[in-house]
Amino acid sequence: MENVVKRPSAWAGRRVLVTGHTGFKGSWLCLLLHRLGAHVAGYSDRIPTQPSHFDLAGVGQYLTDDFRNDIRDSESLSAAFDRFAPDVVFHMAAQPLVRAGLLAPIETYGVNVMGTVNCLEAARHSATVRAAIIITSDKVYADQNWAFGYRENDPLGGADPYSGSKACAEFVVSTYRQAYGLDGSGKGCVAVSARAGNVVGGGDFSQDRLVPDLVRAIESEAPLVLRYPFATRPWQHVLEPLLGYLRLAEAVMDRRTTENAWNFGPPAAQTVSVGEFVSRLADCWGARLPVQITDVVQPKETNTLQVDSTKAAVRLGWHPAITFDRTLELTAEWYKAYLRGDDMAEVSRRQIEDILAAQATIL
Ligand SMILES: NC(=O)c1ccc[n+]([C@@H]2O[C@H](COP(=O)([O-])OP(=O)(O)OC[C@H]3O[C@@H](n4cnc5c(N)ncnc54)[C@H](O)[C@@H]3O)[C@@H](O)[C@H]2O)c1
Repeated sequence: MENVVKRPSAWAGRRVLVTGHTGFKGSWLCLLLHRLGAHVAGYSDRIPTQPSHFDLAGVGQYLTDDFRNDIRDSESLSAAFDRFAPDVVFHMAAQPLVRAGLLAPIETYGVNVMGTVNCLEAARHSATVRAAIIITSDKVYADQNWAFGYRENDPLGGADPYSGSKACAEFVVSTYRQAYGLDGSGKGCVAVSARAGNVVGGGDFSQDRLVPDLVRAIESEAPLVLRYPFATRPWQHVLEPLLGYLRLAEAVMDRRTTENAWNFGPPAAQTVSVGEFVSRLADCWGARLPVQITDVVQPKETNTLQVDSTKAAVRLGWHPAITFDRTLELTAEWYKAYLRGDDMAEVSRRQIEDILAAQATIL
């Protein structure tokens, strides 16, 4: 399998549409694609946080087109496809938060399910799109409380509206593949889903996520209440699954694979508890972090969650590029630079080079 980093020309001149480009993962993906020589356009309704990685890293200056509208507006989305004529689309626009999903289930299902339908409708009618990579989540799996990771053919489920809506998005992909030849049997686009774990890294400012909550606690000098200290999560640096999505898209564009459903998770040793994550991040930060454990009953969340990424390793040659400690170091480094008021565009660019170099050495 060839390497996306040693072979940047795989993306040079490609036209890539990223939905959800103003968000945490989308903004990093745009930077990465630009670095690899792609022409990038984005489609989102707004910048979801203030501050944002999108603004701090100056992502807007790298975009060929920056469409701002709701993903549920199918006409507007199709018009964006027509105007930009992408070769590849990465669909990330979503309501991505478990707690927000519990508070607003109708909105969450609307955005996450109909957004996926609209994206696949636009992709299947497009004359140019060869690959549609639909980003769902590790939370699509029915919770079995297994000690080992979920594989791509394990049952889907979802005990909360966010997880359920992403599992529904998986069914949408599966249906479109079968009904409209998006499984490689047709002439046009091939659609596949990608399921990644809990991503961390600089530039996340969302509510109700551990690292941004921690950074806000440091800024405000008020302790962070840890809700699920014993829950384990498959932590990985945000750039790791993004590099996996790129390898998947390359393979789909070249028709080296048309198979659906791909996990991109960290090694099992990186699946540690929330409590351990915080204590090891504190070591990298070089200070005690202000945390407190709550005894208030919390909405149900999966206790143990792990995905098995053997398929991506074997078929795509994708492997995590950096260690857990390096993941924590890059995360601490980014937010410390942010709190100091450094040039964050420069910091993000440096971190991309860092991980590209790390990936090049492991392959
Ligand atoms: N962050 C994680 O740990 C994680 C883990 C697994 C999967 N994911 C998935 O990755 C994707 C990106 O997540 P993120 O963490 O970057 O989220 P984010 O909240 O930072 O970004 C979400 C993006 O979607 C856009 N969006 C939301 N509602 C929209 C609407 N109605 N119309 C148009 N655009 C809309 C936002 O403007 C933003 O650009 C999501 O699909 C999410 O479910 C994230």
